[in-house]
Amino acid sequence: QSDKAFSGKKILITSGPTQEAIDPVRFISNHSSGKMGAAIAEAFASQGAEVHLVLGKGAKKPKDSSIHIHPVVSAQEMYDQAVQIHPSADIAVFAAAVADYAPKHIADEKIKKGGDSMSIELIKNVDIALALGKKKAPHQTHIGFALETENEEFHAKEKLSKKNFDLIVLNSMRDAGAGFQTDTNKVRIFSEDGTEVNSDLLPKEKIAQLILEKLKQLPVKI
Ligand code: PMT
Repeated sequence: QSDKAFSGKKILITSGPTQEAIDPVRFISNHSSGKMGAAIAEAFASQGAEVHLVLGKGAKKPKDSSIHIHPVVSAQEMYDQAVQIHPSADIAVFAAAVADYAPKHIADEKIKKGGDSMSIELIKNVDIALALGKKKAPHQTHIGFALETENEEFHAKEKLSKKNFDLIVLNSMRDAGAGFQTDTNKVRIFSEDGTEVNSDLLPKEKIAQLILEKLKQLPVKI
């Protein structure tokens, strides 16, 4: 017997890395593989939801062909897609690793090798979760992620309130097998109402199910 608890719900998920161009051949990015986002997308789809996945370049695509994929490259493009889907979404999950800064100028031609050092001026990117958190309607639920290297709980809880999340999923770079690239993850899920769920090291598919289970325990929004 299948559980279609999210039937009739529209889900927005950001996943994967963003790439911020420096010149036509180089970019700034990070190690996100999109595995965590793909697992969450599959979990929602298998429970009957209409899933829209805003996906960074090179990130893992889910197998379920019912999932709508919106490919993007930069943080600005990810925001532009997400902001269009967001008003009609019931739940938004911010699993992407978004570059916080991007080169101020993108060189038209390949930058040539010159002196012994060079610098690139960076400017702040849009914070997608923060911006959409400000637009969050009473019936909408937002789930964020925090990838931390130190003082994990403090930083995660700070992001939970600052970005207006209902839940935040903390993964730490200090846990072997957790975070970027791996098929597994180990998380702590903090809720806006003060509750906490801790997981063992589990396949990302199981972590996705755990997040959905926690979500189902939240007070129903109308
Ligand atoms: O893709 P994988 O290889 O499977 O790895 C999964 C993951 C480690 C990328 C994922 O589990 C994860 O933790 N994603 C968030 C990583 C991150 O950038 O965290 P952060 O603490 O910098 O950001 C906090 C939250 O704000 C996140 O929900 C992030 O998506 C969002 N954010 C951040 C910056 C920005 N400009 N826009 C955002 O929306």
